[in-house]
Amino acid sequence: MKILVIGSGGREHTLCWKIKQSPKVEQVYCAPGNAGTALVAENLGIAATDIAKLAEFAERNKIDMTVVGPEAPLVEGIVDEFEKRGLRVFGPSRKAAYLEGSKIFSKNIMKKYNVPTADFKVFTESADAIEYIEQKGAPLVVKADGLAAGKGVFVAKNTEEAIDAVKTILDDEVFGEAGSQIIIEDCLMGEEASILAFTDGKTIIPMASSQDHKRVNDNDEGPNTGGMGAYSPAPVVTDALMKKINDEILIPTIKGMEKEGVPYKGVLYCGVMVTKDGPSVLEFNVRFGDPETQVILPRMKTDIVDLFDAVIDGKLKDKKIDWENKDCVCVVMASGGYPGKYEKGIEIKGLEAAAKLKDTVVFHAGTALDGEKIVTSGGRVLGVTALGKGIKAAIDAAYAAVSKISFEGAHYRKDIGKRALNR
Ligand code: AMP
Ligand code: GLY
Repeated sequence: MKILVIGSGGREHTLCWKIKQSPKVEQVYCAPGNAGTALVAENLGIAATDIAKLAEFAERNKIDMTVVGPEAPLVEGIVDEFEKRGLRVFGPSRKAAYLEGSKIFSKNIMKKYNVPTADFKVFTESADAIEYIEQKGAPLVVKADGLAAGKGVFVAKNTEEAIDAVKTILDDEVFGEAGSQIIIEDCLMGEEASILAFTDGKTIIPMASSQDHKRVNDNDEGPNTGGMGAYSPAPVVTDALMKKINDEILIPTIKGMEKEGVPYKGVLYCGVMVTKDGPSVLEFNVRFGDPETQVILPRMKTDIVDLFDAVIDGKLKDKKIDWENKDCVCVVMASGGYPGKYEKGIEIKGLEAAAKLKDTVVFHAGTALDGEKIVTSGGRVLGVTALGKGIKAAIDAAYAAVSKISFEGAHYRKDIGKRALNR
């Protein structure tokens, strides 16, 4: 088979790496990819959102299956366009992708089908939103309705912060059209976990649990990032909790989407807050998580291409997923200054030494080739990932690999996996 993966981050390197292990696969392409995907796939000079060019490439080169990494092309309808042309593609349709593309749509689905989530209200006028905040009091969470590259959520500890967030989104229009409507929701307390599940619209198969580390500094301090590391499994997700998440969140959401006439297929990513009253949905994403994918796929023993095929063909009920009985930890090495301003083009050293370590893979996120050299080209540069027997061994192995790698200005969290260790 010839498979095309769309995207250019750590998630896509991990997808290419896992797909390449399938005995059915001869060739993987990645559009546009990075220096890491170039090791396992052929990179294409086509942007992830250039749907017409991607479809033309898939037709011309007889691509057997396309796997979409990021949300933007999904929300723009890449799956609808590929299907219209008779091309096999893994991901939800444009309308189904609104579960991530519009927080209002997603909240309304949850409300209608009794899926636990924080109470919320929708606003389009800042004066109304501010009146609501003053009456309700903090803490509150203010969210832009549309896609904002992970930057559209403001967790406000006091009313001033909440009002500032409203003004930033509705008055200053920093997210443009994506911020023409907002939601203000109650602030949930607890520990977060990520649950990703395959679904063909009828059957749902959850993957192993994981936990992301969103803040830039140790002990969850500093600004939010795209994710500074992850581990799997997340011990907060016990078997009993997983059953609850399946029964109360995944099943009613997928059934609800079918009833709405927008059947959902692909991966559903559910960000959960484990509160004292049970699991509550923070957000849905319509794709694999980043960096969750980096710790889930190395534990997956099953051929992922078989799972993609089963989802596309509506035959997931015949499948099961086998998991490696090891823990996996991914430590993200970021550019100096990230998540603020940072330089690009800095040489990365020590990648070969790290790659020689047992049970270790260095997934590339923001990297590029500069002649023979591999250089930085983004904020999150590498996802240094290792498996181990038990969380302690996995943490030690990941940091042992990190210690081999260097680039000027590099920073990373020193406490990835600590929460699991403390349990
Ligand atoms: P989202 O992109 O909606 O997942 O939000 C990003 C982050 O904001 C989440 O991972 C949580 O840490 C936080 N967050 C979002 N919604 C809430 C909420 N209702 N209560 C508390 N924290 C939240
Ligand atoms: N790790 C969060 C996300 O993929 O959106």
